[in-house]
Amino acid sequence: MPMEPSVRWEEASPFPVLPEDQIQVWQAVLPQTEEEAGPFLPLLSPDEAERASRFLVSRPRAAFAGARGTLRLLLSRYLEIPPQELRFCYSAQGKPFLEDNALCFNLSHSQGLALYAFSRRGPLGIDVEHLRPKVASAQIARRFFAPQEVAALDLIEPDRHTEAFFTCWTRKEAYLKARGEGLSLGLDSFAVSLGEPAALVHSDQGTDECRRWRLCALHPQPGYVGALCAPAGDWGLRCFMSPSYR
Ligand SMILES: CC(C)(COP(=O)(O)OP(=O)(O)OC[C@H]1O[C@@H](n2cnc3c(N)ncnc32)[C@H](O)[C@@H]1OP(=O)(O)O)[C@@H](O)C(=O)NCCC(=O)NCCS
Repeated sequence: MPMEPSVRWEEASPFPVLPEDQIQVWQAVLPQTEEEAGPFLPLLSPDEAERASRFLVSRPRAAFAGARGTLRLLLSRYLEIPPQELRFCYSAQGKPFLEDNALCFNLSHSQGLALYAFSRRGPLGIDVEHLRPKVASAQIARRFFAPQEVAALDLIEPDRHTEAFFTCWTRKEAYLKARGEGLSLGLDSFAVSLGEPAALVHSDQGTDECRRWRLCALHPQPGYVGALCAPAGDWGLRCFMSPSYR
């Protein structure tokens, strides 16, 4: 079982190089208003701008524009391509990727915070969730989690319950997102650990599947939990704070 790396969030100055044997994660605070989102709008492709315009409420619209704009800014630094010139393709299940480029990435956003993961080898999945006690109910756990995850959650003391619930949620999502299949893979067909180390502990596809993937817990900000999933291997993790526009 791989040990949990101790994750320190670094200031990203100068912009880091991305070695083959490293995964780099970034966190960014997202814009909340039209005014704050303004600088990101010229970076978006027509389809992204159209998607942004479909949000009826300004805060999620600003967050979406900021999340995609920040993705473009980070990719443009890694690839030395202007952010507006990046062309995304989408898998049948909606996972974005760069055609003709081996740089892999994934992103997630929740309540004003985004996480991004980048690697030069292999697929990635990342998830962040704001801790919301009202969502962390036993009923929702039974609906989304595998029986052994529900049983593990039942053993957690009440004051740690919400964090354990979203720890489970983000690990499941990160694994799903790394595989890229979305919810087409049954949520009860695999199980993750709720404690340390983060791990895929059961898969209906067998123990090889558990050995094939590595999960890492991420703690970007108080009130949020996150998880990263990538193929198991000898890679290191570095985490960076994206410069804030505020
Ligand atoms: C779409 C899905 C991949 C993630 O959705 P989400 O948790 O609502 O959103 P996140 O913020 O974590 O991730 C969204 C990003 O993932 C990426 N993404 C979309 N489809 C993806 C896929 N099939 N695989 C990997 N990444 C995907 C996109 O970049 C998207 O960003 P965008 O909004 O800029 O397009 C999918 O897993 C889903 O529908 N989840 C629903 C939530 C749920 O029921 N979870 C059960 C948890 S136990």
